[in-house]
Amino acid sequence: MKEILRGINIYLIGMMGAGKTTVGKLLAQRLGYRFLDTDSLIEIITGKTINQIFGEEGESKFRDLENRVLQEVAAYVRTVVATGGGIILRRDNWSYLRDGMIIWLDVPIPLLVNRLRGDSSRPLLQQEDLEARLTQLYQQRVSLYQEADITIRVSEGETPPQIVERILTAIPGKIKPPRGI
Ligand code: S3P
Repeated sequence: MKEILRGINIYLIGMMGAGKTTVGKLLAQRLGYRFLDTDSLIEIITGKTINQIFGEEGESKFRDLENRVLQEVAAYVRTVVATGGGIILRRDNWSYLRDGMIIWLDVPIPLLVNRLRGDSSRPLLQQEDLEARLTQLYQQRVSLYQEADITIRVSEGETPPQIVERILTAIPGKIKPPRGI
């Protein structure tokens, strides 16, 4: 698999609560890749939580930071990157994502609701009706997530190792020729 990938990065995209970090760490282990998480990097660089950044500086500043971090991360090779759910919103993020292989973890809303109930770390979900909010965000974003190279529709009860197996099975059929060829 390592030879097939030729060191290109893997970007996991998808909604909050989709399991990008958990699956990404496991996938990185399987591939002998480094693992990075854009949200964690933003928190390390700024010394603030995502909540603080949204609260003090607003979403637009957060998106700028996210873009900068993605740019840095894209300079690495052999890296699995768990991205924030909204990374797909900025058009210029796609040029970085497209240099690697983009995998969408598509998780049904009811499952996301179960996972995210009571979560206070995500500023975009701090409102009464979690299901309605997630549905709204999903509808706004689904056409962008669909631009991924590989879609993994996750079903209830599926474990992270099983998801990683599905990803590893799907990758060989999706290798793009190197840029410029
Ligand atoms: C966001 C997702 C979060 C984080 C921020 C905004 C989004 O990351 O980047 O709260 O817009 O979907 P996770 O997808 O890792 O929760």
